[in-house]
Amino acid sequence: MRETEQNAAKAYREQFGGEPDLIVSAPGRVNLIGEHTDYNGGFVLPCAIDRRIAVAVGAGEGGFETRLYSADFDETRQIEDKDSSWADYPRGVAWAMRKAGHEIGEFMAAFAGDVPLGSGLSSSAAIEAATALALDALFGLGVGRTDLAIICQRAENDYVGVGTGIMDQYASLLCEAGAALLVDCRSLEAQSVPLDLTAADLALVVCDSRVERGLADTGYNDRRATCERAASMLGVEVLRDATEEDLTSLSGEELKRARHVVSENARLLEAVEALEEGDFDEFGRLMYASHASLRDDYEVSTPELDTFVEAAKQHGARGARLTGAGFGGCAIALVPRSETAAFTDSCWQAFAEREFEEPAFYEFVPAAGAEVAR
Ligand code: GLA
Repeated sequence: MRETEQNAAKAYREQFGGEPDLIVSAPGRVNLIGEHTDYNGGFVLPCAIDRRIAVAVGAGEGGFETRLYSADFDETRQIEDKDSSWADYPRGVAWAMRKAGHEIGEFMAAFAGDVPLGSGLSSSAAIEAATALALDALFGLGVGRTDLAIICQRAENDYVGVGTGIMDQYASLLCEAGAALLVDCRSLEAQSVPLDLTAADLALVVCDSRVERGLADTGYNDRRATCERAASMLGVEVLRDATEEDLTSLSGEELKRARHVVSENARLLEAVEALEEGDFDEFGRLMYASHASLRDDYEVSTPELDTFVEAAKQHGARGARLTGAGFGGCAIALVPRSETAAFTDSCWQAFAEREFEEPAFYEFVPAAGAEVAR
């Protein structure tokens, strides 16, 4: 068992007494390319990271109230009463499962994890996915993974109240180790694309810019609304259906946002081809182009994220870009393995020169999606 899984089991024993029936864990993610495309019916290419949230669960006895415990916050919560805490995610999942007609009995759940929180690495999708897979197994529901992902998205959209797309939940539930996941966010078909960084002698370096993100109260919903407006001006259902030619009839914000979505979908498909051919020069070039488009057309970058990507370019990264929603959070870079220490030093220095918050750096390997550990 992984350390997070052991920690969840230990927390369960200490809080609830006895052994848990099951231990499940689910990862956070980074998105390699295809940003702000999921809610436009387009394509995304995330990979799971080797940071997870684990949950140990047991069925509650008759008359027992469902209790949730977080080892990271050292807090116990009841299943009722939304309170804008971490507990809203498991609450939302249980709620969405019941809404979908599944029978969820009383249960006890203890969580422990090592996904950095609030950094744009999808700790929320990880706790949702872990809860969903755990409840599915505990109550013998037999819901497939894609349907569990949809349930998790519903929990996030309609219970927690953040209008995210499907990418993060899909990544957490469906990714495979050593691979990225190509998702067509309209048909919801997904397929693994091998991501053999070791063979390419590359490392996936993640820079947490330490700029707090707040998805709900930032421009995320605003960007979404502009895309919907642009789609309706073009007479298409979603921007996935818009072409480069269509863009000529738009102007202002609608033009910029739509141009990002149309070009990003095209870049993603080229990037998948490059990956399949093991062409990381081309893949990296597309990452840089994606960042420029997010910065200039979608306007979701920050000076910190731009500084990282510029420093990455100067210090030998094959590609780099912000990852996730933007407005702070993380950026990624593909860096030759032997150069990662010098690389992060240089980036750290670029931040120091501009008197930005000290960034945090991680090196992740493409990891497995949600799993029942025991
Ligand atoms: C957040 C959302 C995702 C996706 C990205 C941007 O991570 O949760 O659904 O929209 O932003 O690509």
